[in-house]
Amino acid sequence: MEDSSASAPLWVGRFEQPMDAAAWALNASLDVDRRLALEDVRVNQAWAEALHEAGVLSAAERDAIVAGLGTIAHEFQTGTFVFRASDEDIHTAVERRLRELVGPLGGKIATGRSRNDLVATDFRLWLLGQLPHLEENLIQVQMALLTQAEASGDIYLPGYTHLQRAQPVLLAHWWLSFFWMLERDRQRLGDLYPRVAVMPMGAGALAGAGFPIDREKLAQRLGFLAVSQNSLDAVADRDFAAEFLFVAAMLGVHLSQLAEMVVLFSSQEFAFLELPDRFATGSSLMPQKKNPDLFELTRAKAGILLGHLTALMTVLKGLPLAYNKDLQEDKGQVFAAMDTLLAVLPVLAAALRAINVNAEHMQAAVTDELMATDLADYLVKQGLPFREAHAVVGRVVREALALGRPITDLSEQALQAIHPLLTRSALAILDPVQSLARRNLSGGSGPQAVEAQLQAARVVLNQRRVPILRENVRSIRTSETSIGL
Ligand code: ARG
Repeated sequence: MEDSSASAPLWVGRFEQPMDAAAWALNASLDVDRRLALEDVRVNQAWAEALHEAGVLSAAERDAIVAGLGTIAHEFQTGTFVFRASDEDIHTAVERRLRELVGPLGGKIATGRSRNDLVATDFRLWLLGQLPHLEENLIQVQMALLTQAEASGDIYLPGYTHLQRAQPVLLAHWWLSFFWMLERDRQRLGDLYPRVAVMPMGAGALAGAGFPIDREKLAQRLGFLAVSQNSLDAVADRDFAAEFLFVAAMLGVHLSQLAEMVVLFSSQEFAFLELPDRFATGSSLMPQKKNPDLFELTRAKAGILLGHLTALMTVLKGLPLAYNKDLQEDKGQVFAAMDTLLAVLPVLAAALRAINVNAEHMQAAVTDELMATDLADYLVKQGLPFREAHAVVGRVVREALALGRPITDLSEQALQAIHPLLTRSALAILDPVQSLARRNLSGGSGPQAVEAQLQAARVVLNQRRVPILRENVRSIRTSETSIGL
């Protein structure tokens, strides 16, 4: 009962000549979209159900189609599905196999649906299924940062602006700064979820299916939160994918900044951090080298991720309504971005945990001029306007620089010559621990503020931002039992 037309292109009826082979290769997308295999089966099963409810398929027809699709899922899961050279994309492959399995009846699955609404539905479903996984990997990196912060105790290091030493900050505060950047990226992953979870199915090719499909029910069955309001928009737009790529690129940028700090701080010039051997590389020529390749690659991936966002935005720009084949280029970008992040995040999580801190070097770099602001603040407390205090301390710094000595070496006489409020005992203010203790306002780098921050970080890490898809591909019904993925 195999359908003899099962392997011909879906549109063959109108054409007199077969397609040119090279043109066929350019047109085909199976190499990329085969990753949507299980989503495609799932959506087709739900569609068969919807067609039955709309009076298009009898119960027996629906059962045969759903069972056939279950067999196909099983073949995908066991790696026994055989693709044919004539399979243009995953949708044609699934439909072709269904017709082989259940005969011409399989052709009924195409009723009222188009690959245009099908691909958009599959793609969204795939992304919904991946987002929690991505979040979990992101959490692991946040956990590594939190663990480092918790182990930092009262270690301090110079904070920098313009990569010039600026003021002391607690090391825990420094680690946590990246934690909060990643926390916002995680929030963004959660924020985009409801816009991805809108179901295009039922939009047909562009104008809506010609059958009374209960789309709300179908959406619910597939785990979507809502149905699209406009069939043209449903098949034409990929803003959900672009939005994901933005979040991926933003995350990539944050990771690149963290990676750059590790590269810098693990150099001999800083020697603040020591890379664990397991996450460092050597040189093929210079035996003494220990290189931060993995952090450099992380830094580079930001550029790659931004490239995916730029690529998709550029593909979308100026497209006429509704579906255009340009849209076929969407999935490769999203798959690649996801793969990149899922390759980088676990390595980063493990490497960050294993990094060793050289507290001695960090603290030695906090020289007394880093507390110059504290000295100015002291003068402010004595009644000097801050601008004046700033100028006075500026002269103190200049004097120390001219002598090539630390500020604390300046004599009483030299200090008095600059300003009568300046005394040697006032220079006790140039102490990093005291400097930090004055910064316990919320969000500050003082020890109590950082303790509260650690507490807040622990709390947010217990909250998941991305919902888990209720109905996912795990619920594919097969001819045997349900198959655990
Ligand atoms: N492979 C196509 C894609 O990814 C599926 C949709 C094809 N639709 C069409 N009308 N040619 O976009």
